[in-house]
Amino acid sequence: MDIEKLISEMTLEEKASLLSGADFWHTKAIERLGIPATMMSDGPHGLRKQDDKADHLGINDSIKAVCFPAGSATAASFDREVLRQIGEGIGDACQHEDLSVILGPAVCIKRSPLCGRNFEYFSEDPLLAGELAAALIEGVQSRNVGTSIKHFAANNQEHRRMSSDSVVDERTLREIYLPAFETAVKKAHPWTVMCSYNKVNGVYASENHWLLTEVLRDEWGFDGYVMSDWGAVSDRVKGVTAGLDLEMPSSGGANDARIVEAVKNGTLSEEAVDKSVRCILNIIDRYISNRKPDTEWDLEAQHQLAAKLAAECMVLLKNDDDVLPFGKEEKIAVIGRFAFQPRYQGGGSSHINSFRVESLADALEGNGNTIFAKGYDIVNEEPDEELISEAVEAAALCDKAVIVAGLPDSFESEGYDRTHMRMPRCQVELIERVAKANPNTVVVLYNGAPVEMPWIDCVKGLVEGYLGGQAVGAATKAVLWGEVNPCGRLPESFPIRLEDNPSYLSYQGEGNTALYNEGVFVGYRYYDKKKMEVLFPFGFGLSYTTFTYSNLRLGAVEIDDTQTLDVCVDVTNTGSVSGKEVVQLYVGAPVCSVFRPVRELKGFEKVELAPGETKTVAFKLDKRAFAYWNVRLHDWFVADGDYSIQIGRSSRDIVLCQSVKVTGSVPEPLDPVDPDTIFMDLEKNPKAMRIFGPILQKMMEEFASQGKDQGEAASEAISDEMSRAMMQYMPLRTMLSFGAGEMTYDQLLALTAKINEPD
Ligand code: BGC
Repeated sequence: MDIEKLISEMTLEEKASLLSGADFWHTKAIERLGIPATMMSDGPHGLRKQDDKADHLGINDSIKAVCFPAGSATAASFDREVLRQIGEGIGDACQHEDLSVILGPAVCIKRSPLCGRNFEYFSEDPLLAGELAAALIEGVQSRNVGTSIKHFAANNQEHRRMSSDSVVDERTLREIYLPAFETAVKKAHPWTVMCSYNKVNGVYASENHWLLTEVLRDEWGFDGYVMSDWGAVSDRVKGVTAGLDLEMPSSGGANDARIVEAVKNGTLSEEAVDKSVRCILNIIDRYISNRKPDTEWDLEAQHQLAAKLAAECMVLLKNDDDVLPFGKEEKIAVIGRFAFQPRYQGGGSSHINSFRVESLADALEGNGNTIFAKGYDIVNEEPDEELISEAVEAAALCDKAVIVAGLPDSFESEGYDRTHMRMPRCQVELIERVAKANPNTVVVLYNGAPVEMPWIDCVKGLVEGYLGGQAVGAATKAVLWGEVNPCGRLPESFPIRLEDNPSYLSYQGEGNTALYNEGVFVGYRYYDKKKMEVLFPFGFGLSYTTFTYSNLRLGAVEIDDTQTLDVCVDVTNTGSVSGKEVVQLYVGAPVCSVFRPVRELKGFEKVELAPGETKTVAFKLDKRAFAYWNVRLHDWFVADGDYSIQIGRSSRDIVLCQSVKVTGSVPEPLDPVDPDTIFMDLEKNPKAMRIFGPILQKMMEEFASQGKDQGEAASEAISDEMSRAMMQYMPLRTMLSFGAGEMTYDQLLALTAKINEPD
């Protein structure tokens, strides 16, 4: 396509028409100029290609497809390769089905366990979310199919999702809510970005110039097109100016006409329209000029892949007395509706019409050592005595029991948030009663987000399966019977109770205003800082083998922030079976002028080790590993000091630690000095101290001697240290009242103004 030529030949009306969808899933064609319509489909964990009866809520059917594990599960793999392989599978399916863009990945940060869409999102940690999103994007786009990373930005609740205003301070946005998008955009270059429904600091994301143009394009170098979430457009003309290229779905022509009108009356520049047209045509061209229509989509092969990858995502959270893995000869009671009808995906736009679903019962077909019981009803929350008794009886007859439990569809979905973190009552009672009947009871959970576990001490084993996709049954069997050694790690903290969560006091907001009061202290950044007990910490997960760490070495003891730091550590499998370990690298910052988390994840690698094998895992840390977002510089800033490089099994289990001295290459920006500047801040400013240092010293001495003059009692009451401590909070202007030097207020003002002048 000669895009510039096409633009020059297009009428204003044709240009405007390209800036919104033809219908639910297509861009518009301009036949006169040979511009084809292209189709997109929901993801993120499979295809939801709809035909005539289209909707964005997952209500109407779509073609039969493969449902891979959801974002919550794949994040638990801590494995870029898992995401890449899913991406490649989806990419092939898209080429086969002629889909130019798949709508995902969804990378919003899990601010609260209650968010209805947490099942689709990756993590409470932006580094993990960004790295995994980049891998998925690379996988899909390696097949010459676009992705749409979503929902940009600060979209962390479903409550009032189309009207709420996420009020987030600048540092928190930069450190927590934007970096997953940033990493993915910089590393993997998604073809498109989907802006969110909500407002960000008072402005709809779909009209937010700062977000869509200054940050996304100018800073991060995004070169694709931005599309709206379905129905996220309020003022289309403002949107074009802000950098929203494509409105989805169709506006029925109304907004096309508004765009034309705005250009004609001078409120919108034609260049802005051209810019969006250019971005959209670029991506259309990228897709159609490299079409691979012959790509095969082998559903059965992808089902097997989904099974293999789901097993890599399961997290073994408890395994007392090595209750797992089950032995082939052991008699096992398999209990719970979800063992027959697994909950393997979430509700809403990501809902996939799976061509096949494999439950645990299906996977166990022919296994003579298992007996089954339903245990609970999925629809009715109340305990059913008959079902429970049957399950208890089965459990009592067996060596061990496994209960497949979790959250039913109605508990968590796109479109609304949970109101509590509890499991259905029928399941809680079932677990407690079965565990009494059989001390070797294991629970497997299928859920999209953490639940409270009042029963945790009654059971010996626990596997968190999240929403594992259509082959979840095969994966569950593989993990329970030890065909696969579990290697998932929690991508989020599991609090003991909902009230422990840092956003508890302000989540969902008041009316349309959602204040992100907890700032950067999201997830483990909060629990670790508060030294708070959690049910399971971020990064935690067990294995059927054991790993030890040794020989942590840093490439330098001292660096400046323009240099990188090499970090290596050896990991050894000290058990008797092969397994995969997730090596987690955290950085702890020194005390500086802003509040910082105790530690933050700055690297992770998954390694496979045979029994007795040792491997060296290497990381490279750059400036961002040490920096915080400085709101005076509006940039990343490294404070001088000793940083601890920590290797951990989770955010709560740091096994090796060493420190490196890091020097920032720019000085910390100082507040301007004026008569209200307090002495403590003045002391940080060398230029100010050259002028005021002697005066301050004199004041200090006088202050101390005044105490002494007032007798022994006074000098005992106020020691030198005490007067120094008190004085540090006194503003500069007090020197006028306390008589240190002959100076008027105006002279003082003039002096401070001089200090602020650049040298
Ligand atoms: C969702 C998006 C989805 C779109 C299209 C919206 O309601 O928020 O994630 O891609 O619908 O179905």
